[in-house]
Amino acid sequence: MLNPAPSRPYDIVLFGATGFTGKLVAEYLAVNAPGDMRWAIAGRSQKKLEAVRTELATLRGVNPRTSALPILLADGRDQASLDELVPQARVIATTVGPFGHYGRKLAATCAGLGTHYCDITGEVPFVRDSIDQNHAKAIATRARIVHCCGFDSIPSDLGVHLLWDHAKRSGGSLSWAKGFAGEMSGTASGGTAATMLALVSDAAADPSVRRLLGNPHALDPKLPRPLTRDPFEADPRGVAFDRDIARWTAPFVMSGINTRIVRRSNALLHYGEPFRYREVMSFPKGPRGLAAAAVVSAGVAGFVLGATIAPTRALLARFVLPKAGEGPSREARERGHFTFRFVAEGTGEGGKSLRMTATVKGTRDPGYGETAKMLGESALCLAQDASKLGDKFGVLTPATAMGRTLVDRLRAAGMTFDVA
Ligand SMILES: NC(=O)c1ccc[n+]([C@@H]2O[C@H](COP(=O)([O-])OP(=O)(O)OC[C@H]3O[C@@H](n4cnc5c(N)ncnc54)[C@H](OP(=O)(O)O)[C@@H]3O)[C@@H](O)[C@H]2O)c1
Repeated sequence: MLNPAPSRPYDIVLFGATGFTGKLVAEYLAVNAPGDMRWAIAGRSQKKLEAVRTELATLRGVNPRTSALPILLADGRDQASLDELVPQARVIATTVGPFGHYGRKLAATCAGLGTHYCDITGEVPFVRDSIDQNHAKAIATRARIVHCCGFDSIPSDLGVHLLWDHAKRSGGSLSWAKGFAGEMSGTASGGTAATMLALVSDAAADPSVRRLLGNPHALDPKLPRPLTRDPFEADPRGVAFDRDIARWTAPFVMSGINTRIVRRSNALLHYGEPFRYREVMSFPKGPRGLAAAAVVSAGVAGFVLGATIAPTRALLARFVLPKAGEGPSREARERGHFTFRFVAEGTGEGGKSLRMTATVKGTRDPGYGETAKMLGESALCLAQDASKLGDKFGVLTPATAMGRTLVDRLRAAGMTFDVA
């Protein structure tokens, strides 16, 4: 039986279609959604949504029905408008962020009404709050509430899931995995910059947010959990050389969310007992790699410091970072790419030690070209692949909600997922 009922007017509603990333997801669906998919764009401005629809209809390869794409109005802060929007959809995909500011009511409404939901947040406090408020409710209504369906955290979460799947096929489990964000090209949008500044400013003002961000298991099913002192899972600081991959490493700005999502997937799926994960950025092993790692390490520390102090945060927002609605050009998105490498160890049949590697690659810029694809395919997966997803409901991760089914979709859409 399809859940929620097919009698709802739309299979997918894309909320935030007027934003920089939302427009790209709308383009992705306009070109790639099957012809009989009933979908709509939603946001808070009829005029802006009409302009988006007009632009979509001019794209090469779009479904001719795009010029009549339905438009729905709602505001992420207005509960009454969400109460009207959410029951119309089987799946809501949202790009309205910062999610901590505009996303809480929407996720809660979806959980309450049994509507599947996916987003591109990378905000740990928002996901924690959603787990606490929505997990039990979504299990009861059989909704899949799936956060982090963009560059944070699909490559990490599905990369490790693939390693586990590989280990399971030889009767084994995982003991640990390391993720290495490697070569990549891409820049941030105004929405991403605003979200990062909001998160750092919330942490500066509130010690409980700082504690949560510093907890490597912040998204495990239950909090509080004793803060782990395991150096393997501590958030990396500074430059190091990793012998398992023979590359220099530096802190990766997205590992703060990616590691917590992978650990939540492990807590829900049991990759190994125990299983540990860490994630860094990696660079070639020579002196140039070392220099690049040092620059990135200093850059990350400098950005966090600058964003923590109110006056420099205002200067960053005003003069350095992109504004709302701005982001990388089409050329930059098409030139962009990313590579994620993984190394893992596990135990196979008869207690034999297993060593595995995996690679996840994207052929457009990670934050927008590939993120539009990842969110678009997540929404299509939730809408179309229910029979393959099993009986998992609640506040889930991409791996626990969609796992191998989403890997297959993303492969077919041009991403690489290799494991050996
Ligand atoms: N995970 C990833 O890899 C990834 C990648 C890219 C972006 N992101 C995240 O996605 C979010 C959006 O980024 P962006 O660059 O696309 O931002 P953006 O261009 O500023 O777009 C924001 C969107 O949110 C809408 N919005 C704002 N307040 C709203 C409200 N109260 N009710 C309804 N809609 C509202 C805006 O509508 P109006 O047009 O009406 O103002 C706009 O459509 C950010 O949080 C960013 O961090 C994540």
